[in-house]
Amino acid sequence: MEQPENMMDCPAAETSAQPIIQIENLCTKFGDVVVHENVNLSINQGEIVSLVGGSGSGKTVLLRQMLGLNHPASGTVRIFGEDINRISQQELQKLRNRWGMLFQHGALFSALTVFDNVAQPMRELRVLPKQLIREAAMLKLQMAGIGPEHALKMPSDLSGGMIKRVALARALALEPELLFLDEPTAGLDPNASESFVDLIRTLRDEMRLTVVMVTHDLDTLFSLSSRVAVLADKHIIAYCKPENVVEFKHPFIETFFRGERGLRAIEAMPDTSEESRQEQKQRQHQDSAS
Ligand SMILES: Nc1ncnc2c1ncn2[C@@H]1O[C@H](COP(=O)(O)OP(=O)(O)O)[C@@H](O)[C@H]1O
Ligand SMILES: [Mg+2]
Repeated sequence: MEQPENMMDCPAAETSAQPIIQIENLCTKFGDVVVHENVNLSINQGEIVSLVGGSGSGKTVLLRQMLGLNHPASGTVRIFGEDINRISQQELQKLRNRWGMLFQHGALFSALTVFDNVAQPMRELRVLPKQLIREAAMLKLQMAGIGPEHALKMPSDLSGGMIKRVALARALALEPELLFLDEPTAGLDPNASESFVDLIRTLRDEMRLTVVMVTHDLDTLFSLSSRVAVLADKHIIAYCKPENVVEFKHPFIETFFRGERGLRAIEAMPDTSEESRQEQKQRQHQDSAS
């Protein structure tokens, strides 16, 4: 099949939107090991961008570059217009208060209650009165779907789905404009996963969040992403709407999207036209016949 001309890099739907993240020619090395080579990625306000790639392809490290936790061998990472590797620690801390992060592992402090986990980022600011922190923490928990009856529980008393929700409440504590999620639905059962997806969508709509999410979960990816960035061969090989990225010819993309699971997820997409569904089915048919 012929590649549409703009296959590898489709513009965002809302071209008037401001880029919140601009990564240019980013190279990351650990000793002699090159993880990223000329990564370019621009993410606009209000987008939900899913970052996919094989295990060890450098997704988490790319998120860490955006958080200022890893540093480039060369290239630039601008967040909210600031080159985060050229600003002072103080300025970086100010930016950190404008984003929230849900880490892949070790999401909560095990020695703190649910409430204290969410209150902690606000306490660290050292400017908010106790009562306000209390109200804000309870509100964030409620937004994340955790009732007040759970506030004094310890993380070890919670299910996996609830831990993710509390971690999300904590990531939202400082009312971020930007949210980073590293495999937010990994390890959740399909129901918990689906309600987490609904929650992210609601938050995006209500808080006008921009979301960058690493995920392996195709249902999550297709139902949330405005664009999908594919990390392979040390750089972004495709950056497109989900329905377009599946058409790009690359071994990783074919394995990742075009299996049985990928096809199901595409069919479940709310706005996939009958035409493209038929195309997908046909291609799947041809692939399995060849
Ligand atoms: N601090 C580090 N020191 C050395 N190598 C690292 C470090 N962090 C990550 N790496 C390596 O970088 C590569 C990408 O890792 P990572 O971003 O965690 O992959 P994934 O795409 O699975 O999230 C891996 O080969 C990993 O071993
Ligand atoms: Mg990872």
